[in-house]
Amino acid sequence: MFKEDTLKDEVILITGGGSGLGLSMAKKFASLGSDIAVCGRTEEKLEHAAKELSEFGTDVKWYATDVRDYDAIGEMFDFIIKDFGKVTGLVNNAAGNFLSASEDLSPGGFKTVVDIVLHGSFNCTHHFGNYLIDSEAEGNILNIVTTYAEDAGSAFVLPSACGKAGVLAMTRSLAFEWAEYGIRLNAIAPGPFPTEGAWTRLFPDKKFEQKYLDKIPAGRYGEHDELANLAAFLMSDMAPYITGECVTIDGGEKLSGGQFNFIDSMMDRKKLKAMFKMMKGK
Ligand code: COA
Repeated sequence: MFKEDTLKDEVILITGGGSGLGLSMAKKFASLGSDIAVCGRTEEKLEHAAKELSEFGTDVKWYATDVRDYDAIGEMFDFIIKDFGKVTGLVNNAAGNFLSASEDLSPGGFKTVVDIVLHGSFNCTHHFGNYLIDSEAEGNILNIVTTYAEDAGSAFVLPSACGKAGVLAMTRSLAFEWAEYGIRLNAIAPGPFPTEGAWTRLFPDKKFEQKYLDKIPAGRYGEHDELANLAAFLMSDMAPYITGECVTIDGGEKLSGGQFNFIDSMMDRKKLKAMFKMMKGK
């Protein structure tokens, strides 16, 4: 689907790009010709990521910074513009999450996750948007949210659910407001894509993981490349008329709440069909 130069002439910043899905997206963008800036809190991770990314032959730079710090993010954008001459895309991927009964959350725990997820995305988006508007350039913003950002929310990850819902609202609000500047904003709502960071924080043991796997109709987790392809498409000139959209990529997991979906787990399909046949005559 993609040509090797699909993202040529792009300079894309991926927050939290030192590992996990952020790094997978960065690799995909680099393989399609984009120069890459990654930021995160841990220098060693970023250094290692930059080494892997440089194998694709485009320009790669890393910036150790915390998305929660508005002024530091502004300075980072100044550096990126100095280093690359421009920035054309931003992926708000940096996140924080942990499992907790909501009644046991400390105000600090709630604030920390919302700060990273919502304020961090705002900080980067605000600096990037102003840079684009001032320089009369067009650009792309992609926000990585989650399937529980809309509709049901989710138990035991309240700060993340609140933060990500805010990011989705920001995506849609700004997609409208900044369309006249030629700035597109979209979101991806990933379901289960295994990463070390998320899995160690969100799955206490194999039993939890199996239970989770059981509710994915596709019967498997997502592969990083599947998400990275979607991200590349939304960041590219192949999607110039898509803005304010949130694309779910979850193997159907989000649909598991359908009223009669549980029937599928009661018995195998053959027995189900036999039962339905018997019921037909009644
Ligand atoms: N359960 C409940 N509260 C927790 C917690 C947990 N597992 N981990 C941290 N907290 C609370 C702390 O108690 C503290 O609140 P307090 O000051 O009111 O006591 C607050 O969160 C900040 O904790 P701290 O460890 O100082 O924050 P940090 O900025 O170093 O780390 C986190 C941020 C907590 C989100 C950490 O998990 C992290 O760095 N995550 C980054 C990667 C990530 O989460 N990836 C998953 C993506 S799905």
